[in-house]
Amino acid sequence: MTLKVLAMAGLILIQGPSFGVAGEPSADVAKARAAVAGLGESLKQQLMAAMGAGGPVAGIEVCRTAAPALSQAAGEGVGLTVRRTALKVRNPDNAPDDFERRVLEDFAVKIAAGTPPGSLEHSEIVTRDGARSLRFMKPVMMTEKPCAVCHGDALADDVRAKISTLYPADQATGFNPGDLRGAFSVVQPLD
Ligand code: HEC
Repeated sequence: MTLKVLAMAGLILIQGPSFGVAGEPSADVAKARAAVAGLGESLKQQLMAAMGAGGPVAGIEVCRTAAPALSQAAGEGVGLTVRRTALKVRNPDNAPDDFERRVLEDFAVKIAAGTPPGSLEHSEIVTRDGARSLRFMKPVMMTEKPCAVCHGDALADDVRAKISTLYPADQATGFNPGDLRGAFSVVQPLD
């Protein structure tokens, strides 16, 4: 009986309105975190499938068309805007805003200081024109496979040619495995 009461009390504590350090509703942070985790998985799957079937040049099409579509889908229906950004971008449309730049720079400093990237995320409530929104970011890390094929420093000639045709201002090569490649960035209007 006592145990049951304690368990119920525990449940109430867990489910009650709880707030993170910056005062953001933790349920909203959890929603953003879940959207980003799902997007990361589906992006990797589609990329691997396309590259397996048609090689790296086919993978470029996935990154170009499927990545924005999947990002949009990850937010639609749950009231979020989800995108990818980075300090050095391939697509200028993915360039960071001031908030994203500050958080990306902070991630880079922490990773350089030895913080495990998987443990990093940032959430904060921002107010713009009187309207509050929750902003959430999570690092995207560079790995050998499959990222180096298109973001490393030894790109195959056909990959390099296709990328420079599509993205003449490309800044997103020369990364090494373990580098911060960029971040997922989520905005949720709260008002
Ligand atoms: C087959 C080539 C290819 C591979 C492999 C690839 N990317 Fe990309 N990546 C691209 C292209 C093309 C874009 C630009 C997409 C766009 O137009 O929005 C891009 C964009 C990005 C962006 C958005 C910021 C920017 O630079 O515009 C991130 C973050 C990113 N890639 C991370 C990764 C990671 C992490 C991996 C490994 C899991 C990876 N990429 C593997 C081709 C690739």
